[in-house]
Amino acid sequence: MVHHTVPSQAQPEAPPHKFAFVDRALADHQQSQRWRSLYSITPLDAVCVLKNDRKLVNFSSNDYLGLSKHPALIAAAQDYTARYGTGSTASRLVTGTYDIHQQLEEKLAIACGREASLLFNSGFQANVSLLVSLLDSRSLVLCDRLIHNSLIQGILASKARFIRYAHNDLNHLEKLLRQAGDYSRVMIVTETVFSMNGDRSNVPALVNLAGIHNAILYLDDAHALGVLGEDGMGLAAHQTGVDIVVGTFGKAFGAFGAFVTCSTKLKDYLINCCGGFIYTTALPPSIIGAIAAALQLMPTLEPERQYLTQSAEYLRTQLHQLGYDTAGSTSQIVPLMVGDEGKTLRLCEWLEESGILAIAIRPPTVAAGTSRIRFALSSQHQREQIDYLVNAIGNWHE
Ligand SMILES: Cc1ncc(COP(=O)(O)O)c(C=O)c1O
Repeated sequence: MVHHTVPSQAQPEAPPHKFAFVDRALADHQQSQRWRSLYSITPLDAVCVLKNDRKLVNFSSNDYLGLSKHPALIAAAQDYTARYGTGSTASRLVTGTYDIHQQLEEKLAIACGREASLLFNSGFQANVSLLVSLLDSRSLVLCDRLIHNSLIQGILASKARFIRYAHNDLNHLEKLLRQAGDYSRVMIVTETVFSMNGDRSNVPALVNLAGIHNAILYLDDAHALGVLGEDGMGLAAHQTGVDIVVGTFGKAFGAFGAFVTCSTKLKDYLINCCGGFIYTTALPPSIIGAIAAALQLMPTLEPERQYLTQSAEYLRTQLHQLGYDTAGSTSQIVPLMVGDEGKTLRLCEWLEESGILAIAIRPPTVAAGTSRIRFALSSQHQREQIDYLVNAIGNWHE
């Protein structure tokens, strides 16, 4: 009699859980103390907020002129909504271009002393989609080591080769420009005011280098717009030789959205070739109204800008006296460099207990060992509030 042994049936291995990568990433963030979560605040006025029923003075907002609560912007947003509705109903190339979009673009171009301007739906979206449309896989990008994530995302998505030069080191940039080989185009990408350090680029020197090496110069003016330059229109306004300038309206303009200024020819190129412009619904009328009102106010806000500059200088001096480094800041963004992540978080907690809202900036937003509190001043902060902040920092002991 023949006995057949029944082969033991190997259990098929269970396929990996399809969201295992999510579990891994969340566990990583928790273990490395880099867990981020959302909490809600309610604005009370231009600088104060309610958090968990406590009133805090906000030192981390980008509303540098307090315009997000300005009656003229609120009235214009309401008026434009009443006249044009809540939505723009289509992309600009379909039926979303209202007269108010075009009028705003014309005024922005004039205010910045540039040939043309084109609206985008946010600074992040503008940087990603502009860079994708302006670069290709045979391009070379030379960018400052500290540029904003949106610029990096755009460069990566374009598949261009990119090299980061040491922060604000134009000798390094020049060396890289000299060594550049055979590329379809070379582009320099940097910010005018750096979002995490609050220091500035040397725009005329960048223009000079770009000119000598026939490179395209792309500047992100997000943190200078409204605060610096002629009539507050940024450090890249009225500068011949800068090819592309991105400004954002969610910061000193107190609204939302972004714009690019460039040549008329480049604007035509973007209208025809930039997916992030072509395939998205136009900014809503309320936002166009708020931006238009902010733009009209800009030339009148010189006293606010001067006061803001003085406040930042005052805060830096006080922090230096307490022994803190402020990362070369020369603008309304004043980082207090702590270094260690845990220590930075503990300082934030201490400040919050003292009635101050200030956010820790840590890796991966900034390099390991350079965690900081990024204070962002507003022209609406009173001197007593800044003194109160300095006092609270001075009273902090680990
Ligand atoms: C330098 C820079 N560019 C672009 C952006 C993105 O702008 P938005 O907030 O309008 O998307 C930011 C915002 O944090 C920024 O700091």
